[in-house]
Amino acid sequence: MSSKPMLRIEGLAKNYGGLKAVRGVSFEVPEGEIIGLIGPNGAGKTTTFNMIAGAEKPSAGKIFLFDEDITGLQTEKLYYRGLMRTFQLSHEYAKMTSLENLMVAGPSQLGENIFMNWIAPARVAKRESEVLNRAQDTLEFLGLTHVETELAGNLSGGQKKLLELGRTMMGDSKCVLLDEPGAGVNPTLMLKIIEMIRTLNEEHGYTFCIIEHDMDLIAKLCNNVIVLNEGQILMQGAMETVRNDERVIDAYFGGGVV
Ligand SMILES: Nc1ncnc2c1ncn2[C@@H]1O[C@H](COP(=O)(O)OP(=O)(O)OP(=O)(O)O)[C@@H](O)[C@H]1O
Ligand SMILES: [Mg+2]
Repeated sequence: MSSKPMLRIEGLAKNYGGLKAVRGVSFEVPEGEIIGLIGPNGAGKTTTFNMIAGAEKPSAGKIFLFDEDITGLQTEKLYYRGLMRTFQLSHEYAKMTSLENLMVAGPSQLGENIFMNWIAPARVAKRESEVLNRAQDTLEFLGLTHVETELAGNLSGGQKKLLELGRTMMGDSKCVLLDEPGAGVNPTLMLKIIEMIRTLNEEHGYTFCIIEHDMDLIAKLCNNVIVLNEGQILMQGAMETVRNDERVIDAYFGGGVV
């Protein structure tokens, strides 16, 4: 790993009452890399993302984005610093179209401000058409142009996952946290999602941290994998090393095969 850390987590912890969901987790996500975050159900993966993405306040620990302390910053502030996340369960607005779902994920909509609409209508219109163009380009990238006007609630599970990924393309993303981008996705679409993540990494400069149970996706995309178990890092290393490690096999299956 030669590049500097984009994201740095130090001693992150989260307690829910007596339950220690995350207990002192530290790791780095180097700029330009795709890091895998794996581990059995309940290991604390989503809770870790929630803290990084400003959805939950840490009980202890610090989070740095490019050496700036972002601990406890809210999601919107993080959006403007280029940090975005997707959700394990897709967060689409069911009663809005695919296109509208992407547009609302775009940079702040000046048109929602009545004063701006009155004082600078041309600027508002320009911004809105930029957001529209970006949303249409994103749908094209995702292969979803044919469902542009479909209500998001009617999309398949896999299409909703694509739309989740698309939301991160509506801002100037630098660091993107993906929570199970492949969950419930059929094998063909899975290969497309893997390709899209790779393209965003190689051609658009995105740095990723990916939670995923599908080891094939992790093996195809991630050189470096972090294994969480019971709120702590069990080990970190290359996928081949990690998947053959007895401790990891034990954590997942109590002796089965990963
Ligand atoms: N809001 C909450 N209140 C109480 N307990 C919670 C809350 N969120 C998560 N937990 C608990 O914290 C632990 C870690 O949960 P988390 O969702 O982070 O696991 P995960 O690694 O993402 O698992 P999965 O692979 O199943 O998604 C679990 O025991 C979970 O029940
Ligand atoms: Mg989870």
